[in-house]
Amino acid sequence: MKRIDLHTHAKLSKTFPFAPRAVWQFIARSKRLGLDGVALVEHLHAVDYWGIHEALRREFRYRDADGVYEGPDGFRLLSGAELSILEGCDLIVLGTVRQLQALDAALAEPPTGGYRPPFDEAIAAVRRVGGFVAGAHMFRPGKELAKVGLPRLAALDALEFNGKDFTMDDRVSAEATRLGLPIMGGSDAHFWAQVGIKATVLPIGEITQASVASAIRDGLASVASQPYGPLAVQISGAYKRIAKTQRARAALPGAHARSSSRAVAGLSEVAGQAR
Ligand SMILES: [Fe+2]
Repeated sequence: MKRIDLHTHAKLSKTFPFAPRAVWQFIARSKRLGLDGVALVEHLHAVDYWGIHEALRREFRYRDADGVYEGPDGFRLLSGAELSILEGCDLIVLGTVRQLQALDAALAEPPTGGYRPPFDEAIAAVRRVGGFVAGAHMFRPGKELAKVGLPRLAALDALEFNGKDFTMDDRVSAEATRLGLPIMGGSDAHFWAQVGIKATVLPIGEITQASVASAIRDGLASVASQPYGPLAVQISGAYKRIAKTQRARAALPGAHARSSSRAVAGLSEVAGQAR
C-alpha cells in the first residue's frame, strides 16, 4: 500500500523563483505523516516551469521510465503539472518529463507560455502523449469544472478531493459516481505545512506513473484526510500572503527594501526550523 499526495506545488507562488529547499521540506513533512510520495504538479504557466525540472534533476536522480524523482529512503516525487484551461478551470496532469514536454508542444501554443487550451484540446493532447488527467478542485468557486459541461467531464481519468476544498468531498464523490469516474486526493499545498492533508492511498508495491495511473483508473484509490487540514490551509495561506508582501516590499528601492529582504530570509528560516 502506498500513500501519495497527488497535488503539491514546488513554489510558494507562481511568480516566485523555485527553491529546492521547499521540496526537501515537503519530503520531511511527508515522511512524518507516513507518506511514500508526492506528485509535483506546478502550474505550467508558472514562471520558468522547466527550470524547476532542471533544478530537480540536479538534486535527485530521475527515472525516465517510471517518471519519478528518487528521494531519500525510497520516497518518490512524481512529475506532473497543473494545466489551466480556457473555460476557467484546472486539470491535474501526471506524466513523465518527456510526456510533459510533448504536451507542451502538442497544444496549439505552449501552456508554459501562458496558453490555456479548451478542454477538448487539452484532453486530446494528454491522450496523444499518454499522460493521466484529472479534474482539479471541481466545485471551487470561480473554477467550477461544470463550466466545461458535465457530460464532457467523463473524458477525464478521475476527479480530485482537494485539500483546500475540504467541505466539498461529498459533492465531488456524488459527481464522480454520476460520471462513472474514480477519485483521487491531494493537498494543493504550496507550503510544507499543508502537504499531506489529503493523500491518495493505492494498493501498489512501487510508485511509478504507470502503477499510480492504472490503480486510480481501476477505482482502487481511497483518500485519507488529516483532521487539522483546515488549520494547515489557513496557516499556509497566511504565510504565502506575508511572503508575497515582503517580496513586494523588497523590490522597492531604498533602505526599507533592504531590511524587508532580510525579513524574507528570516521568515524562510523560521519556516525551515518549524517543520
Ligand atoms: Fe493546485
